Amino acid sequence: MVIDVITIFPAMVEAALAEGVIGRARERGLVEIRVRDLREYTDDRHRSVDDVPYGGGPGMVMKPEPLFRAVEAITAEGGRPPAVVLMTPQGRRFTHAEAGRLSRLDHLVMICGRYEGVDERVAEALVTDEISIGDYVLSGGELPALVVIDATVRLVPGVVGDAASVAADSFVDGWLDYPHYTRPAVFRGMAVPEVLVSGHHGEIERWRRAERERRTRARRPDLLSGGDDGLDTASRASRAGAAKEKRDHEGD
Ligand code: ADE
Repeated sequence: MVIDVITIFPAMVEAALAEGVIGRARERGLVEIRVRDLREYTDDRHRSVDDVPYGGGPGMVMKPEPLFRAVEAITAEGGRPPAVVLMTPQGRRFTHAEAGRLSRLDHLVMICGRYEGVDERVAEALVTDEISIGDYVLSGGELPALVVIDATVRLVPGVVGDAASVAADSFVDGWLDYPHYTRPAVFRGMAVPEVLVSGHHGEIERWRRAERERRTRARRPDLLSGGDDGLDTASRASRAGAAKEKRDHEGD
């Protein structure tokens, strides 16, 4: 998988992508991430990337020319036309299911917006997807792009060593995660739940399933409503299956 990130703050993006799981995936060649400085695609003396809005109003708007030039240069480097994602609070809400979809792409180009936004012709003629990471406004698309890259790249096969760990993550099947404990068994008077030290695998499995459901009901009832939960069909089916299994079990 190849990801190009277009930004006016390449050092900020590069720093975050050099560390941890993503940094290691890059070193191992599982993903190639190229951070592009938008100013390299300007043609004026001041290397300007923004201008005043038509119609007046506050703030500045990102100019179309450097963004078109950048995406066209990347596309001309070869291969099939990439997916071009614009990070914006106006976009579709990012979910784990969306990360799964992106992780199966060969080539992804991400545009980090700044200022009041980008010229609408960029969204209309260049961009294939507009993505928001949540209902709040950040000062630019760099942090959102890093969030999307992190969630996406860890789903690329081989990136996370323990595939079971990825499969058990919150949201994978529509439930939050169960609580985790490690040694010591008693810490400052707080004991690890008895069942976890029992060695009884069936009981542990049942306890974890019950905890996931209890947490999801208490903290994220919206995930249970069956509405726009961001799940793909397979995850929704998996959750329905788990609920049925539980009902059957309780019926024993
Ligand atoms: N840029 C500014 N805020 C954003 C958000 N919430 N999601 C994506 N891009 C953004």
